[in-house]
Amino acid sequence: MKIQENISLKKYNTFNIDVNAKRFISINSVYELQQLLKTEKDIFLISGGSNMLLTNDIKKLVVHLDIKGISIDRENHDDVYLTVNAGENWHEFVLWCVSQNYGGLENLSLIPGNVGTCPIQNIGAYGVEVKDTITRVEAIDIETGKLIEFSNAECNFGYRNSIFKNEVKGKYILTSVSFLLTKKEHQLNTSYGAIETELTSKNIKTPTLKDISDAIISIRKSKLPDPKEIGNSGSFFKNPVISKKHFDKLKEKFPKIPSYTISETEIKVPAGWLIEQSGFKGKRFGEFGVHEKQALVLVNYGNANGKEIFELAEKIQKKIKQNFEIDLEIEVNIIN
Ligand code: EPU
Repeated sequence: MKIQENISLKKYNTFNIDVNAKRFISINSVYELQQLLKTEKDIFLISGGSNMLLTNDIKKLVVHLDIKGISIDRENHDDVYLTVNAGENWHEFVLWCVSQNYGGLENLSLIPGNVGTCPIQNIGAYGVEVKDTITRVEAIDIETGKLIEFSNAECNFGYRNSIFKNEVKGKYILTSVSFLLTKKEHQLNTSYGAIETELTSKNIKTPTLKDISDAIISIRKSKLPDPKEIGNSGSFFKNPVISKKHFDKLKEKFPKIPSYTISETEIKVPAGWLIEQSGFKGKRFGEFGVHEKQALVLVNYGNANGKEIFELAEKIQKKIKQNFEIDLEIEVNIIN
């Protein structure tokens, strides 16, 4: 446990933004973290760095949460209860579950980031949200250094949302997440159109967890840029929810607008479609731009800085407001 000085954060964030950390420390255990918190409270936490846009050098102590380990708490014929430490890579954990025939997370294959941040934004893709498998989240109170537990209900999960983004934001460091996964009679979720197409093309009628994971990996690879090649944070914006009245008006003007019904009065509209219709898809501005295959993803081609990517996001928000009267909400954490 040693504080280093003037470290580039480029390899610690999936947008690959090159900002400087004045002081930096890697933490490998809960005990180390508790020791550190006795003297350092004003910290900036970085884990997988997959949901942040760094726009400036960081003056606070940067704490890289690198606590590893997976343990099986208990199991029976049907289910397994696992606890996974925050620093485990999410995708590697999903692949491990698939290899053990533990079901529930296969649709969340290839999502960047670490296990410790998955509850914060309740990661979700292809018909599954992580909240459906989480039983418990353990966290350290930054103020007191004490460990506390949140049950699933206490996490207050919603679409790309949880208590950790709201009421208790910045108050806790998530150290481990516990999951309940199935060992047999898995609840497979293949209803998402692209999954069905992918499985049919391979002539798979009764898919295994691995078949689904492979299908998701192939779909994601075809649409989303690999952060190791092109810096990005996945969906930069949330899909907006608008009133049915507003949607009906838009539908008259744009008959092809895709939508998902949320309730009798609310409709979710894909932000990617709105951005594409506004002419931004695939637009490149020097070192940064909008991904060519998924307009919801902003990218860093190499040497962009966070400020210019944020300015592009603001430009997109303004245009969407003009064109559709919709306020696009940024999903990624903007770090000033
Ligand atoms: N669309 C366009 N143009 C685009 C992108 C999308 O017209 O450039 C249209 C598609 O044709 C489709 C609709 O928008 O009709 C939905 O597209 P897609 O299935 O790609 O999903 P999404 O709503 O754009 C969400 C998540 C993704 C997740 C996918 C699959 C959000 C903010 N994003 O995207 O999550 O992988 O569904 O479930 O909810 C992430 O959060 O980082 C992420 C990648």
